[in-house]
Parts: sequence; structure tokens; C-alpha cells
Amino acid sequence: MKKWTVAAFRAAKGKQKLGCCTAYDACFARLADEAGVPCVLVGDSMGMTMLGYGTTLPVKMEETLSATAAVARAVKEALVVADMPFGSYQCGDDAAMANAVACLKAGADAVKLEGGATVCGLIRRMTEAGIPVLAHVGMMPQSVNAYGGFKKQGKTREEAAKVLADAKAVEAAGAFAVTLECVPSELAAEITAALAIPTIGIGAGPVCDAQWLVMHDLLGLNEGHVPAFVKQYAHLAADAKQAFAAYVAEVASGAFPPA
Ligand code: KIV
Repeated sequence: MKKWTVAAFRAAKGKQKLGCCTAYDACFARLADEAGVPCVLVGDSMGMTMLGYGTTLPVKMEETLSATAAVARAVKEALVVADMPFGSYQCGDDAAMANAVACLKAGADAVKLEGGATVCGLIRRMTEAGIPVLAHVGMMPQSVNAYGGFKKQGKTREEAAKVLADAKAVEAAGAFAVTLECVPSELAAEITAALAIPTIGIGAGPVCDAQWLVMHDLLGLNEGHVPAFVKQYAHLAADAKQAFAAYVAEVASGAFPPA
């Protein structure tokens, strides 16, 4: 298999359903890449999964760049997408452009940013500058304070119309794909049928062209709350704890290291 490009990802719509996930370091990015994951997102979810915050908001540009560079060094075939952190594209389009350029210089193939109609000018400018953009509509975790919690979006007729309009707007602005997070599956199906670009769902039902799972959810690395839409394909938290405990016990007993 050769390196996934933005064009190949886009062209997969209607032909191949793509299971995509996040990764934040070289070790797990290499494993995901070697296992055939077509797109690795250096998600701002790292704020919660890796850095111990309660939301994605505290993630800094330096942290995104450092993680993106590590992931890009490890990945050979997957498309690497850097998720622009809160504040890196909300404080003026020139600053946003500079931050997106920095993501590509760190090794990303594309950037992701949250927002619909309001970020279309930025998506157009980035796309014209040769920076592929993966959009993100529906529930946008960087707006958690505006929502008053991580709440499903698009439940009322008005909300659903807005999410659909946002998805159409980001496609028209040049996004090569769009994330649909935590929206009703019927709405995700309607958007998927309406767009020529792939939809990547997370908590948005089975009809999307591709799916995201956060790596820590997929691998069972989280011990706390697991969202209902998640499937854990492994239970690495339990395995890791068992290994740590066995090591501590063997050092205490003298069984490790061997004589
Ligand atoms: O940061 C993240 O993990 C995301 C998800 C949609 C995959 O944006």
C-alpha cells in the first residue's frame, strides 16, 4: 500500500469505509499505521487523553506541533492530520494561517479545525494556500463552554438544519472531508448523501463514509467514563496495570532481575 493522500481519501467515498483514529506519539502512531489505519489525527483530544485536562481547551500550539512531528516521523502510509487547538485559529486569520503552516512544517498532511459557516473564509484561504482542511461540524468540543457541556447537536429541526448548512458550507469552501461529531444518525446519513466529500463520524451512527475513534477509547486505555458509541477493541489499561504490578512485585521479591 502506498501513502494515503488527501485526494485518495476523498476518492474513497462510496467505495471504501475508512476506520480512522487519533494518535499522539510515535509509538502508537507506528502501530496504527502498520495495522492499516488510513488516517491518523493528532487530535486536540490529547488534552484529555494524554495531558489530564477535563476539556480540549488548554492544549497549546507547541504541544500540537511536538505531537504532530512525533506522529509524522513514525507514520509511513497514513494521512496525518493536525487538529488545530483552541485559540490557534480564533484570534485572526493571519495568525491562523501561520499556525496551519507550522502544522504542515511539523509533518502534517492536512489540518483540522472546528466550525461551519463562520470558518469558511479561513478554510478557503488555507485551501488556496495549499493547506488541505478537514472540517468539523456538529458537536464541537472547543465550544463546550458555549454548550454548557459536551452535548449532542442537531436534535431539533432548527439545529439539524444548521448542521446540514454548515456541512454544505465547509464543502463549498474547499474542505476535503468533514467530521460529524455527536449528531443523530439520521442527520449524519442525510449529510453524507448530500455531500460529495467524505463524512467522518464519531457518535454519528453507521452511515458516514468513515469513522473516528479516539485511540484511548479504541484500545481501552481509559478507565473512566466510556461514551456509549465507543467500542473497545482491547483493554490495555488493565493489561498495563497488571504488568506494572507484576514488575513491582518481582523486584520486591528478588525474582527480577535474574541472578
Ligand atoms: O480531537 C479529537 O480526538 C477529535 C475527534 C473528532 C476524533 O477531534
